[in-house]
Amino acid sequence: MSPIVSIQTLHKSYDDGFEALKGVSLEIEEGEILALLGPNGAGKTTLISTVCGITTATSGTVTVGGHDIIKDFRAARSLIGLVPQEINLEPFEKVINTVRFSRGLYGKPRDDAAIEKVLRSLSLWDKKDARIHALSGGMKRRVLIAKALAHDPRVLFLDEPTAGVDVELRRDMWDVVADLKASGVTIILTTHYIEEAEAIADRVGVIAKGELLLVEKKTKLMKRMGQKQLEVQLAEKIDAVPASLRSDAVTLSEDGCTLIYTYDTKRERTGITKLLSQVADAGLVLRDLSTRQSSLEDIFVTLVREDAA
Ligand SMILES: Nc1ncnc2c1ncn2[C@@H]1O[C@H](COP(=O)(O)OP(=O)(O)O)[C@@H](O)[C@H]1O
Ligand SMILES: [Mg+2]
Repeated sequence: MSPIVSIQTLHKSYDDGFEALKGVSLEIEEGEILALLGPNGAGKTTLISTVCGITTATSGTVTVGGHDIIKDFRAARSLIGLVPQEINLEPFEKVINTVRFSRGLYGKPRDDAAIEKVLRSLSLWDKKDARIHALSGGMKRRVLIAKALAHDPRVLFLDEPTAGVDVELRRDMWDVVADLKASGVTIILTTHYIEEAEAIADRVGVIAKGELLLVEKKTKLMKRMGQKQLEVQLAEKIDAVPASLRSDAVTLSEDGCTLIYTYDTKRERTGITKLLSQVADAGLVLRDLSTRQSSLEDIFVTLVREDAA
């Protein structure tokens, strides 16, 4: 299947010479949810603004639905919906008019049934005659999504849809995204919240300093790096890992009170039993044991650190 969005060696330098994208290539399959995860300033907004035709690339190509975003601007743009990072709505406008207007901007004829469907899908139908200023923050975000969906795009870009929103609203937004996916929309969202990528994405791309460091299926990513750590707290501080225990898998915490053993959860033998008997043989007394599963957060931190090195 050919990808719905194809990005090839995209470079973007701003007028001041700052290189915000350093040759990003990425393909997005129809129907998936891709999360672009990266710290502030990584280039996430620049990347999606370029794909959406709001900023122009310095070099590289992008196609959406097979249409080049420069040469075939209209066709490409009609397939795209964008929910920007900032809320920018007319405060005194009614919800339904705001959404209708957005559809008109794409040269699509008025279609009340289509607008109703969008508003209902976002639980905004009973608010259709409310004025924007009277809505809660969460409802305003939904209106932004409704606007972006008003012309029936096949690909929806959400730029930090939950930045600065409370936990409840964030979960609410995740449900909205899941429903949109179920309705067949391809979704690309940016986030600097790791748990957001972990919760809703099918694939995760990690971006830092204008470079895409990796893109992988979330499940595979977490499995590949899915290691666990056993922390063995000792009754007494030691200066070094005893010789009998020495291996790449065993390290000592900085305070000398905890042995940390990293193992692979997928292996038939984890080596835990052997380790614990070695600990006893070395004459060490245990105070406590705990295990920790590495999360996307660890993976992310490791990657960004490696990148900095
Ligand atoms: N118009 C601009 N002119 C110059 N530099 C910019 C401009 N917009 C963004 N940048 C810089 O490009 C980098 C990436 O910004 P952005 O794409 O907004 O990152 P993110 O969305 O990941 O936080 C940042 O260092 C930012 O300061
Ligand atoms: Mg941004």
